[in-house]
Formats: sequence, structure tokens, C-alpha cells
Amino acid sequence: MSDIQEIAPYEQLGGELAVRQLVNRFYEIMDTDPVAAGVRAIHQPDLTEAAEKLFLFLSGWLGGPPLFVEKFGHPMLRARHLPFHIDERMRDEWLYCMYQAMDEQIGDQPALKAHLEQAFMRTADFMRNAR
Ligand code: HEM
Repeated sequence: MSDIQEIAPYEQLGGELAVRQLVNRFYEIMDTDPVAAGVRAIHQPDLTEAAEKLFLFLSGWLGGPPLFVEKFGHPMLRARHLPFHIDERMRDEWLYCMYQAMDEQIGDQPALKAHLEQAFMRTADFMRNAR
């Protein structure tokens, strides 16, 4: 085992309130920025439930409390996304919103930001189900 205590991204971000802030800003950008119009269109008109679920999921995904799993069980994230046509463009619109939200919130923590950009890219690409 390593002597170095790894601090979870959840803590580095600033805990629950910070994760909620990130998710809220992410969906606000999706809701308003024309660049994200395609990905916005496949979401429900009301983004409240999507925001709550993404918050619960990211809490555990970032190394904090596994709230989504406690509440709903295994997220089966890829299967959940199969009903939606997710190609590279859709993926990149989703990532555009997340990168923008992170830039605003943790632009002053470049190492954390770069790490999370990569992690989101891998997860978003895993969700891709169309060419
Ligand atoms: C690759 C591009 C992606 C697209 C186009 C996409 C699209 C969607 C859509 C349309 C929904 C349904 C929301 C609604 O009911 O309005 C959804 C749900 C969700 N997405 Fe994504 N998503 C993407 C990537 C991601 C990534 C990278 C994550 C996690 C890091 C994620 C986590 C979730 C979660 C947790 C839910 C809720 C699932 C549930 O209802 O149990 N998505 N997504």
C-alpha cells in the first residue's frame, strides 16, 4: 500500500455543495447555450430530476458518498443511455457543458480539472452507442 493518502476528487472539489453547484451549472449551460441544443433536445423539458440523479451519481463517482447506489442500486449507466442516440457529436455537446462548468468552478485547480476532464471523457465515450 502507498503511504500517500489520496484525496478524493469529491473532497478536492469541496464536497456536497460543490458537486451540486457543478451539476446545476452544467444543466444551466445545457439549457441555454446554443452549442448544446442537440443534447438539450433529448432531455426532458424539466431538468430537475436529471440534475438530482446526476448529483447522486457524481457523489459516488467522485469518491464521495455512493448516494445513487444507496437509493437506486447499480446505475447501469450505459444501458440507461441506450434509448438515446449518442454519437460523437452528442458526446461532445455533453462534454462541452461539463468542461465549461468545471472551467468556471475549478479553473484555478488545473490538475484536478485535467484529471476530471479525462475521467468525464472516458465515461462519456463509454456512453456512445452510435456512429
Ligand atoms: C455522452 C453523452 C451523454 C448524453 C447524450 C446523455 C444523455 C442523457 C439523457 C437524455 C438522460 C435522461 C435525462 C432525462 O430524463 O431528462 C440521461 C440520464 C443520466 N445521465 Fe446521461 N448522458 C451523457 C453522458 C453522461 C455521463 C458522462 C454521465 C456520468 C458521468 C451521465 C449520467 C447520467 C445519469 C446518472 C442519468 C440519470 C439516469 C437514471 O435515470 O437513472 N450521463 N443522460
